Amino acid sequence: MTMKYQLRKLIMSAAATLSALSLNAAGDIEINNLGVNNTLVRIKGDSRYVLLPVQESNEDARINVIVDGKIVETIYVRMATSRTDFTVPYDLSPYKGKNVILDVVTPQSRSSVREAKGDVCWKNISLTDTLDLTDRELQYRPLFHHTPQYGWMNDPNGMFYKDGVWHLYYQWNPYGSKWQNLSWGHSTSTDLINWEHQPVALTPDGLGYIFSGSSAIDHNNTAGFGEDAVVAIYTSAGTNQMQSLAYSNNDGADFTVLTSNPIITLESEARDPNFFWNEQTGEWNLALAHALDHEMLFFTSPDLKNWTLQSSFGKGLGAQDGVWECPDLFRLPVDGTDKEKWVLICNINPGGPFGGSGVQYFVGDWDGKKFTVDTDADGKVPTKWLDHGKDNYALVSWSDTPDGRRTAIGWMSNWDYAAEVPTSQYRSANTLPRELSLFTASDGQIYMANVPSPEVISLRDRLVTSVKNSSLNSKDKVYNLPAVNDGVCEFTVDFNAETADSIMMTLSNKAGEHVDMVYNPATHTLSFDRRNSGNVGFSDAFPVVTVAPTHETDGKVSLRVFIDRSSIELFGNEGRFSMTNLVFPTHPYTTLEIKSLGGKARMSNLRIYSIKLY
Ligand code: FRU
Repeated sequence: MTMKYQLRKLIMSAAATLSALSLNAAGDIEINNLGVNNTLVRIKGDSRYVLLPVQESNEDARINVIVDGKIVETIYVRMATSRTDFTVPYDLSPYKGKNVILDVVTPQSRSSVREAKGDVCWKNISLTDTLDLTDRELQYRPLFHHTPQYGWMNDPNGMFYKDGVWHLYYQWNPYGSKWQNLSWGHSTSTDLINWEHQPVALTPDGLGYIFSGSSAIDHNNTAGFGEDAVVAIYTSAGTNQMQSLAYSNNDGADFTVLTSNPIITLESEARDPNFFWNEQTGEWNLALAHALDHEMLFFTSPDLKNWTLQSSFGKGLGAQDGVWECPDLFRLPVDGTDKEKWVLICNINPGGPFGGSGVQYFVGDWDGKKFTVDTDADGKVPTKWLDHGKDNYALVSWSDTPDGRRTAIGWMSNWDYAAEVPTSQYRSANTLPRELSLFTASDGQIYMANVPSPEVISLRDRLVTSVKNSSLNSKDKVYNLPAVNDGVCEFTVDFNAETADSIMMTLSNKAGEHVDMVYNPATHTLSFDRRNSGNVGFSDAFPVVTVAPTHETDGKVSLRVFIDRSSIELFGNEGRFSMTNLVFPTHPYTTLEIKSLGGKARMSNLRIYSIKLY
């Protein structure tokens, strides 16, 4: 080898190490590794989406989207380093024909640029015009519950009904399956069962992420946004939290964000505004969670833009072990009579009945400015929970519903483990839609009942099992769940405990995994044990037994149970008690076994239905 040749080789290899530039696998994206944790990604092709490779276990990279030299958006994505778990699409269509650069700052410390260059995301990043949205979560994605098409979801929020369409917005991360980039995802339905995915409705802006809030139709045009404008008020979560307004003149498809936002500011953490038109007082009312103070604040307004603080409620009352979030305030008839009471929902996390998050509520009166809570015979304020499972949170109701309905929906997960559940293409579903009402229980207290919305009945397909009347003893009666759709079903059953100490229902699969539900007439409780229900190991907080008060005095319960792959919802005695629990069996449950212990009991009207989507 000559000296000259050796010198040339040396110069070439020095140039190679110094050159930041490389290309992705397809050659239509230019990668400039500028340093150990900074890379410029230049989009060369003309496609609609760039697919960003994600590795869930990584920390978020910060990506500034630079269009013709200006930052138009900042998003956070767990860019893949050693393995691509899945990709998330970033929509380039608004920037067609412009220069798009992603300025990526990765959090991983790299010993050298050479190492940073080796991150798999630079090779796997790609352009596409079409998205492959094929469901990869066949084992656990529910069949008849609302789920996001992909990405992380928490609270349902901003829901309203207009012209036959139920609008459901939700806290959504379009760029990953953990909490981040909070936007308002949007789905619509004409029957509360079949949901159509709509384009994202609100995305983070200069004031911050778009946290939870509510929407209503401004029928009297009090704000001047136009006839029947849909108004959304939500929390802008930047360095601190403040409340902002956006309105829509096309039925909630697109929102115009008020340029004079925020509309409510406070010195301390407050979020999740929930507002409604109060016909009795002729003004707008708004409840706001004063999260760390464990209370709700109440405001009034003539025009949705100017709000006056009127009062607060909740300090020292009810469950106080967590932040108060997502309020809802509405009127309901009591026991189906003309008598009415107000309900104030105060979601709380942690401090829920079985750890983590839960739906707490208070019953009382509302005069348009102040909430006064009902007390029990001893003058105390009882703590009340809407659901006695572990997986119903941030439940709030639709505004502008027809026929005086109070229809609500909750996020079917728990902050204890929501980011760890064994799904990744989508993370979390919503509960079934439910109708709320009030009833007086034997302790003299008024409680809130919730039953599946009437539309849910249309899901019933074939009656696969029907038992009119049967005596129960300690020998299991065994029934098969429908084979179609891997056991997804609804079943109803009535029990009379007679001389039995308890009645037990067990769902099980071929792997020996099981869920045990036990009705105990002496303690007036129904328990749900998911400790052996399947994959329970992803969080210590998951394997639990949840217990509901049955509110009966005669040893009789009527149950309606919905099994949808990874969720079980149980409604008892016309919704006087309910339980929502997630389960992740490694194989679908195939059988339902029923027996009584310590004596004989009677079972009637067992009906198992397969489910159809239409
Ligand atoms: C409740 C909550 C809300 C907040 C939102 C953020 O689950 O913490 O208080 O607005 O989630 O995603």
